[in-house]
Amino acid sequence: MARPATIFSCSACGAQSPKWHGRCPGCGEWNTLVEERAPAPGARGGRSDGLGGPGAAAARAIPLRDVRVERTPRLHTGIGELDRVLGGGLVPGSLVLLGGSPGIGKSTLTNMALGHLAAAGRRTLYVSGEESAAQIRLRAERLGAHALEVPVLAETDLDAVLATMRAEAPEACVIDSVQTLHSAALDSAPGTVGQVREVATRIADVAKRSGTAVLLVGHVTKEGSLAGPRVLEHLVDCVLQFEGERERTYRTLRALKNRFGSTNDVGVFEMAANGLAEVLDASARFVGEATKAPGSVVLAAMEGSRPLLVEVQALVSPSELVPPRRVCTGLDRNRLALVLAVLGRHAGVGVGAADVFVNVVGGVRIEEPGADVAVALAVASAARGVATNPAPLACFGEIGLTGELRSVAHPERRSAEAEKFGLRQVLSPATAPTLRAAVRAALGDRDRPVRAA
Ligand code: TYD
Ligand code: MG
Repeated sequence: MARPATIFSCSACGAQSPKWHGRCPGCGEWNTLVEERAPAPGARGGRSDGLGGPGAAAARAIPLRDVRVERTPRLHTGIGELDRVLGGGLVPGSLVLLGGSPGIGKSTLTNMALGHLAAAGRRTLYVSGEESAAQIRLRAERLGAHALEVPVLAETDLDAVLATMRAEAPEACVIDSVQTLHSAALDSAPGTVGQVREVATRIADVAKRSGTAVLLVGHVTKEGSLAGPRVLEHLVDCVLQFEGERERTYRTLRALKNRFGSTNDVGVFEMAANGLAEVLDASARFVGEATKAPGSVVLAAMEGSRPLLVEVQALVSPSELVPPRRVCTGLDRNRLALVLAVLGRHAGVGVGAADVFVNVVGGVRIEEPGADVAVALAVASAARGVATNPAPLACFGEIGLTGELRSVAHPERRSAEAEKFGLRQVLSPATAPTLRAAVRAALGDRDRPVRAA
């Protein structure tokens, strides 16, 4: 069956269509379809009939227990937090996508990782389509002597990159970034869905053959999704997300997908003058910096399999706006709306027409239901202008729609982490059955409706 010479791909969702549409039939976005030339059938040596003709010999399926597995040792990047998030280091022949917004530190992290590997005697290659070799050197100078060992190739042509990868056969290779490479086989511009897919597929092909572990760097859009690389999530073995705010020091690295480990682990980093430093005592820092003022509580969170104490702050202030502002940083907005509704309805703390701001301090993002109680208590404390007792107060728990506190995973580990940093009293579903009881325990017995201002 002949394929059309051109196809149109959506740069937002990756949907393909033989016809151009102003609005993507897949995701409904406007003006996102771009023209691509479909590769000639069989151009890459694939089976041209697709289904395997009647002449194809049947392959034999074997029981899983008889499948031979070669357990190749992992490559340790020398960055403990990165290795942990990867599930114990880079797997040879695997493809890892590292996403993050510009300026977050992707180039720094990957350059440091290759530097450590090179210092350990591994063959490495750093391919940059974004910066010149001189710019990369300037960064590497800040990162220390190891980073300067890494061979660099400033190139955007995919074929040249693949040829170099074949010739050098690196054990670990960074492509910075996947959106800047360009395949001459396609007419479209670098960064378009077709290009990104082509680049990743062909790099994966070479990597699998040579056993190279490849780190593909990808940019994310303002909305936080991996642009273009959305289509890559299926293609790669592991998707890492590097998050944080450029102006803040703390950055978190988490796995959204991992074929070789859990997606639970989170690494915390800090951008310093000489590269990214691992933050191993994140809880101690966040507790130490907690303000103890009205509107501040400490959340005993779980970042994957690791407990982390973070400060949650709230401000409730009279508003001129209709509807009033509901702003949160580091948390889910819809969750804030739910917490405010339950606070008003079941715990006697109405914020009415006041503006509400909630912030997880340090630029950390918390995405777990256990944060509900912390948000509620921070808002209640801010609305009443009363500090919690004791201050800082550690807490965790999910809030149900009928005002009850619901248990969340790993209560003992959360409490143990709080105790480790001197917060002996922990407010949790085990100590307070309802949000009303939690508010009373944290803020005293003034169980009356409160309106801000
Ligand atoms: P970079 O790794 O280039 O980010 P990305 O590749 O994700 O776009 O670095 C981001 C920022 O970090 C850059 O603005 C400068 C800063 N930085 C430091 O503060 N210290 C350092 O040692 C380095 C290398 C960078
Ligand atoms: Mg970069």
